[in-house]
Amino acid sequence: MLRTNIFVFVSTMLVFAKTLPALKNTNGHEIIDGNCSSTPYDDRVYYDHVDKTSWPFIIRSETVTYYGDRQIYCIQALNQKVNGTGGSANITEGGVGHNFVVVELESNRSHGLEFYVSIYAKNSSINAIKSPMAQNLSEFE
Ligand SMILES: *[C@@H]1O[C@H](CO)[C@@H](O)[C@H](O)[C@H]1NC(C)=O
Ligand SMILES: *[C@@H]1O[C@H](CO)[C@@H](O)[C@H](O)[C@H]1NC(C)=O
Ligand SMILES: *[C@@H]1O[C@H](CO)[C@@H](O)[C@H](O)[C@H]1NC(C)=O
Ligand SMILES: *[C@@H]1O[C@H](CO)[C@@H](O)[C@H](O)[C@H]1NC(C)=O
Ligand SMILES: *[C@@H]1O[C@H](CO)[C@@H](O)[C@H](O)[C@H]1NC(C)=O
Ligand SMILES: *[C@@H]1O[C@H](CO)[C@@H](O)[C@H](O)[C@H]1NC(C)=O
Repeated sequence: MLRTNIFVFVSTMLVFAKTLPALKNTNGHEIIDGNCSSTPYDDRVYYDHVDKTSWPFIIRSETVTYYGDRQIYCIQALNQKVNGTGGSANITEGGVGHNFVVVELESNRSHGLEFYVSIYAKNSSINAIKSPMAQNLSEFE
């Protein structure tokens, strides 16, 4: 039941997302989207380690949502699981060039899920950081 509702929700989001211009969608093993050739720590506006253990017969999933006020130039959802049963990651809303992104992570059935998700955006201003990681990062520099 819950699974069906999530599916309907995600499907609706996908249909909605496909109508948006400049949407970059990456299907498969992991996401490295945008220009990720230089990713200074100061530009990282979101970071999360998604780690969900396997449950027999169950597909584990997670939605990563980031809304900020700076233009995103690099999105990484790096899969820590082996290819084939490591699940998948898709950008379903926003993305590179937007100031927001929704990333859906999904495991293979009966398998776990482990991704490192990083989002980089232009301005590194402390005040611009709006994420679960939001804090005064200047003390680490
Ligand atoms: C990617 O970013 C780097 C450093 O910011 C820049 O030198 C390079 O030209 C960019 N590449 C593209 C394809 O935009
Ligand atoms: C993962 O598996 C797919 C399909 O078997 C293959 O096309 C792809 O190259 C593999 N990726 C890596 C990183 O091994
Ligand atoms: C990502 O898209 C692929 C291809 O459309 C699909 O097989 C996969 O289930 C999707 N994964 C997620 C987490 O949405
Ligand atoms: C794991 O899931 C992906 C889609 O997310 C699918 O392409 C692949 O075949 C699945 N692997 C197995 C072993 O079921
Ligand atoms: C970054 O953001 C701060 C505060 O929002 C602003 O004062 C500054 O001009 C911005 N810098 C750049 C390079 O956009
Ligand atoms: C962050 O810390 C620095 C130095 O401790 C301080 O000057 C600055 O006002 C702080 N910024 C915020 C937004 O708290």
